[in-house]
Amino acid sequence: TGRPKVSVIGAGHVGSTLAMRIAEAALADVVLVDIVEGMPQGKALDLSQSRPVVLNDVTITGTNDYADIAGSDMVITTAGVPRKPGMSRDDLIEINGKIALTMGENIKKYAPDAFIIQVANPLDAITYVISEITGTPKNKIMGMAGVLDSSRYRHFIAEALGVSVKDVQGIVLGGHGDTMVPLPRFTWVGGAPLPDVMPADQIEAIVERTRKGGAEIVGLLKTGSAYYAPSAGAFEMAKAIIKDEKRILPVAAYLEGEYGISGLFVGVPAVLGKDGIEKIWELPLSDEELAALKNSADHVKALVDKVNELGILG
Ligand code: APR
Repeated sequence: TGRPKVSVIGAGHVGSTLAMRIAEAALADVVLVDIVEGMPQGKALDLSQSRPVVLNDVTITGTNDYADIAGSDMVITTAGVPRKPGMSRDDLIEINGKIALTMGENIKKYAPDAFIIQVANPLDAITYVISEITGTPKNKIMGMAGVLDSSRYRHFIAEALGVSVKDVQGIVLGGHGDTMVPLPRFTWVGGAPLPDVMPADQIEAIVERTRKGGAEIVGLLKTGSAYYAPSAGAFEMAKAIIKDEKRILPVAAYLEGEYGISGLFVGVPAVLGKDGIEKIWELPLSDEELAALKNSADHVKALVDKVNELGILG
């Protein structure tokens, strides 16, 4: 069709909501892949039938056959089990690691040149699994978590101060879990640094709520985890690459010495454009902020070691 092709693996809550966002923005033709027979086809048909109302001509296809991802410019991986109340994302490593193995093998077979945006949890370790299997160059594979964590953080700040979310800039670094690193010093509200416009205890409460943002939603939903904000995060990254926007977004990127971290996928700011991760954006962190990021990276490393112990990569 001349449009980019994006395949979304996993047509569950995150995958199907993401497919809707991509289709409604007419960003790309979409292929939805799932193992449940009929389900991705049904969702694709339902989405297709909304096109005359939302007015666009993108094609949305549902399939159980990974061969249909051939020719994708981008593959977004969302297949995996969501957590239940009381579980941490890390508890999903064994089951989602095996699903990631299947996703990785099929991407390697059918769409080896595609960009990969990885969404399944535990985010950073699953991104490692897919990277090991596909051998995708480091500029073309990244995990989505920082945009989501930052979006939660910015929402809480905007709500507390009674200002527009548009005027709250800020990023969250590190792994996608309790050790994530929100950076109040690098958070701006209408041009003012956050610590100048909000008391320290209120900032701390927001930081804590951000760290537990996913668990708060799991606790409310009881079956399943968040998907509106996660799909919005993945959409923003996909758009930045496909439209060559040069956005600086926090992504789980493979680091080779940046921020003093090597050989791991960890959330850091990066410039996203037509070549994927075009540059890791190095913030002038204080020793304390760097130590928090290092602590988060150590946590990711421990989970990657567990992947190897469990023999998930075969
Ligand atoms: N290939 C393709 N799809 C698969 C496979 C596989 N090997 N294994 C499971 N799936 C599908 C399931 O059939 C299901 O439709 O993945 C889908 C997951 O959807 P949901 O259960 O609705 O989970 P969702 O809320 O979308 O979360 C998916 O994203 O945010 C993370 O932690 C979350 O890891 C979880 C993932």
